[in-house]
Amino acid sequence: DETALVIFTPSGKRGRVPVGTTVLEAARKLGVDLDSVCGGRGICSKCQVSPGTGSFPKHNVTVAEDALSPWNAVEARYDEKRGLPEGRRLGCQARVQSDVVLDVPPESQVHKQVVRKRAEAREIVMSPAVRLYYVEVEEPDMHEPSGDLERLAAALAEQWSLPGATAGLTVMHGLQPILRKGEWKVTCAVFQSSEGAAPRILKVWPGFHDGPLLGLAVDLGSTTIAGHLCDLASGAVVASSGIMNPQIRFGEDLMSRVSYSMMNAGGADEMTRAVREGMNRLIAELTAEVGAVPRDILDAVLVCNPVMHHLFLGIDPYELGQAPFALATSAAMTLRAPEVSLDLHPEASVYLLPCIAGHVGADAAAVTLSEAPEKSRDLVLVVDVGTNAEIQLGDAAGGVMACSSPTGPAFEGAQISSGQRAAPGAIERVEIDPATKEPRYKVIGSDLWSNEDGFDLAIATTGVTGICGSGIIEMVAEMRMAGILDASGLIGSAEQTGTDRCFPDGRTHSYRVRDADDLGREIVVTNKDIREIQMAKAALYSGARLLMDKRGVDTVDRIVLAGAFGAHISPKHAMILGMIPDCPLDKVSSAGNAAGTGARIALLNREARAEIEATVRDIRKIETAIEPRFQEHFVNASAIPNAVDAFPNLE
Ligand code: FES
Repeated sequence: DETALVIFTPSGKRGRVPVGTTVLEAARKLGVDLDSVCGGRGICSKCQVSPGTGSFPKHNVTVAEDALSPWNAVEARYDEKRGLPEGRRLGCQARVQSDVVLDVPPESQVHKQVVRKRAEAREIVMSPAVRLYYVEVEEPDMHEPSGDLERLAAALAEQWSLPGATAGLTVMHGLQPILRKGEWKVTCAVFQSSEGAAPRILKVWPGFHDGPLLGLAVDLGSTTIAGHLCDLASGAVVASSGIMNPQIRFGEDLMSRVSYSMMNAGGADEMTRAVREGMNRLIAELTAEVGAVPRDILDAVLVCNPVMHHLFLGIDPYELGQAPFALATSAAMTLRAPEVSLDLHPEASVYLLPCIAGHVGADAAAVTLSEAPEKSRDLVLVVDVGTNAEIQLGDAAGGVMACSSPTGPAFEGAQISSGQRAAPGAIERVEIDPATKEPRYKVIGSDLWSNEDGFDLAIATTGVTGICGSGIIEMVAEMRMAGILDASGLIGSAEQTGTDRCFPDGRTHSYRVRDADDLGREIVVTNKDIREIQMAKAALYSGARLLMDKRGVDTVDRIVLAGAFGAHISPKHAMILGMIPDCPLDKVSSAGNAAGTGARIALLNREARAEIEATVRDIRKIETAIEPRFQEHFVNASAIPNAVDAFPNLE
């Protein structure tokens, strides 16, 4: 039989196929990733390719004008009805006649790369757990009685090699009219947790359906719930939004919520209801933004810390409030939306990443998935700063260790006299002149510094309302550099510092940053504020240092700051404060919301779910509370930057 050479780009895969083979068949045979939803019936146009002509010296082949068969009736009809882009052919209709070079555009690849956002450490390759399949189903026959679902399952097995498909009751409710309306041609959304796993039919549409498939990635934090609505075919984020966690009314931080549940009968249930209602509000908001409804969401991934994990699932977090901090389960979970009262499609899955340990949750696992320390060639310290700091240290050669350290809410501006959440009006950048001790600062919502003309005008609506977490870190570091603060964390008197911004305040001194405005708001840093920051940063540093001890190193190659807070910290100031270990400043980077990115990776790529489950099993968990050296490091790390550890990169 006559054969022809087929070369696919950009993969470079090549091979000979019998003349007359369709491009789609050739792609399957050569293992080329070419999409198809309709199974080669000329309906979906997912199989589009761009044939080249002329000579291709790189591939040592010359392609004739008629290397592919001329348009057949199916392709012509498709072009007439919907229009094929210039130069494109339907791979399932065009047949190979002689040697040919075929380009597969990104939109025709199932496993396409998702366009990477800045700060994302790894690329995401599409491999969603939910995909669409068009099938033609046998009509019922009195002589061979069988159910409609059984014939649909048989069609999926035969036409798509998806044997053993099952369907839930909500699918059965509409199945018979849909099959008849589509004249036995239907499109199914099918969930498969991995290749070869049991397929589950989630939804069926009459005829060919090509609407967007929506998935949801949620980072359920103690303060905010952030969601990304994604297109499960392209990987694009179509809507993002965040709301305050409604559980805040039961307690600002996690431990106060755990105690709320201990003190109040039914308290945990109340918090479970609150967080699920909050999630549903967020889901309604996100879908409305793209003209969809919550039921259009067919797959979801959730990451959160252990307490939120339990409260979301409706498990009393009692055990997490006391040693030995046992989780009800640390395993990953695949649930159905109605089990956790989420207004998604009733057949949609909700996947929860595994928790690493009692204090290191699925959010930390999502950071692992996003930053992949276990694949790093250099030794990387990954720090996610929140009310707890989750710290990971590792590389490909030595594996990964993780711990958490109780930093408290000071880094979020809580328990700081002029502290506040990051919001317009909050001081976020600070500089203090070492000679005059005069501060200048920038507030969120304005690009101007306090000593620039127009600053007060630019912030007229908010005024200067307080200092946020990143602002307080810069403030304390700048105060130390300007000599207002000594290494032990004491604010000097006016005589000692030479500025009357320092004034006696009880038994210590405070530093006045801004005089009272018309509303009586003044910005002051007290010695108690400094103590709070010292405790928080010492906790963070000692956690990191403990992992470095266990690993037997004194330095790390690079540091990744994760979390919304990490994105705003100035590495220089964090190091001057002794919050993070010494490291070349250009090796300190921000990963943005790495937990949210990890959730999105698990949503778009089903293999990533198995991957993170395996990685988490291998992570060595360190419990800081029982490590004697932790206390020692903590005491040393209370000094600014540190009583014993050196910071050569700050010289
Ligand atoms: Fe659907 Fe070609 S595979 S149009």
